[in-house]
Amino acid sequence: MTHLIEVDSVSKYFGNIMALKDVSAHVNAGEVTCVLGDNGAGKSTFIKILCGLHQASDGQYRVDGEVANFASPREALDAGIATVYQDLAMVPLMAVWRNFFLGSELQQGKTPFKRMDVAKSKQTVVDELGKMGISIRDPEQPVGTLSGGERQSVAIARAVYFGARVLILDEPTAALGVKQAGVVLRYVVEAKKRGLGVILITHNPHHAYPVGDHFVILRRGEVLGDYQKKDIPLEQLVQMMAGGADLETLQHELEKAAAQTGDDELAEAATAFGEETEQLGLGDE
Ligand SMILES: Nc1ncnc2c1ncn2[C@@H]1O[C@H](COP(=O)(O)OP(=O)(O)O)[C@@H](O)[C@H]1O
Ligand SMILES: [Mg+2]
Repeated sequence: MTHLIEVDSVSKYFGNIMALKDVSAHVNAGEVTCVLGDNGAGKSTFIKILCGLHQASDGQYRVDGEVANFASPREALDAGIATVYQDLAMVPLMAVWRNFFLGSELQQGKTPFKRMDVAKSKQTVVDELGKMGISIRDPEQPVGTLSGGERQSVAIARAVYFGARVLILDEPTAALGVKQAGVVLRYVVEAKKRGLGVILITHNPHHAYPVGDHFVILRRGEVLGDYQKKDIPLEQLVQMMAGGADLETLQHELEKAAAQTGDDELAEAATAFGEETEQLGLGDE
C-alpha cells in the first residue's frame, strides 16, 4: 500500500547538531499520526521537513509514493500539505471571515471590476465552520475575541476548505486548558473523518491517545518506536514520555551545570545518570 506521506531514513543536521537521525515514518489518509517527544526531540524539525520549510540532509521524502523535493511551504501547500502553526498567522482585530480568506479572497466580477464577494465569503465561512461542527455567532466577530481552541478550529477548517490532504498541527493544545484542548481534538477527529491524513505533534500523551491511530515517539532525533494504538496502552505511552522526559531533563541540567562550572563531580553525576536512564530502558538505545 502506498502511504500518503512517507519518510525513509531522513536525517537533518544544523552544522554539527544532528536534529534528526535516520527517521522513518508514514502517514495514511483518514488516520491521525501522533508524533510525541520531549522538548528538543526533533518534532518541529520533522514537520518543517514535511511542510517544505527545511530540506532533509539525508534520506527520502515521498508523497503518494513519489519523491518530493519541496523548496518552500508554498510548494508543499500546493501538494495539499497544510500546516497550522501555534502562532496561527491570524490577525486578531480582523473579522473571522476575513482571516479565513486571507490571501485567497473570493472575487466576483471581471477585471478590472473585480472585487471581493463579501456576502458569499461570510456565508461560506459560516457553512464551512458548520460542517466541522463549529458554530460562530457572527462572521464579523474579530478573531481576537475567539477562544484559543476556537481559533485553532477556524485554522483547521480553513485548511480543510482550501483542499488540504495532509494537516500538520504543531502542539495545537500546548497553550490550552483541558476544555479548550478537547475542542481542538474534536476537530482533529473531524478532519480525519473527512479523509485527511492528520499529523498531531504533542508532548502530551493524554491529548494524543484518545485521537491517535499510531504514535511515533521521537527521542533525541531518533524514532524510539512507532506503535499502533492496539499495541500500546495509555499507561505505557505515559511512562515512556514522562520517565524519559524527567530523567533526560535532569541529566541535561547536570551536564550543563558541569560544563559551566567545570565541576568534575557534577560531570560524573551526569554520566551516572545517563547510565541509569539507559538501564531503565529510557535512554537512547
Ligand atoms: N535552525 C536550527 N539551528 C540549529 N539547531 C536547531 C535548529 N532547529 C532545531 N535545532 C536543534 O535541533 C534539535 C531538535 O529541535 P526541535 O525540532 O525544535 O525539537 P522539538 O520540536 O521536539 O522541541 C534541538 O537540539 C534544537 O536545538
Ligand atoms: Mg517544537
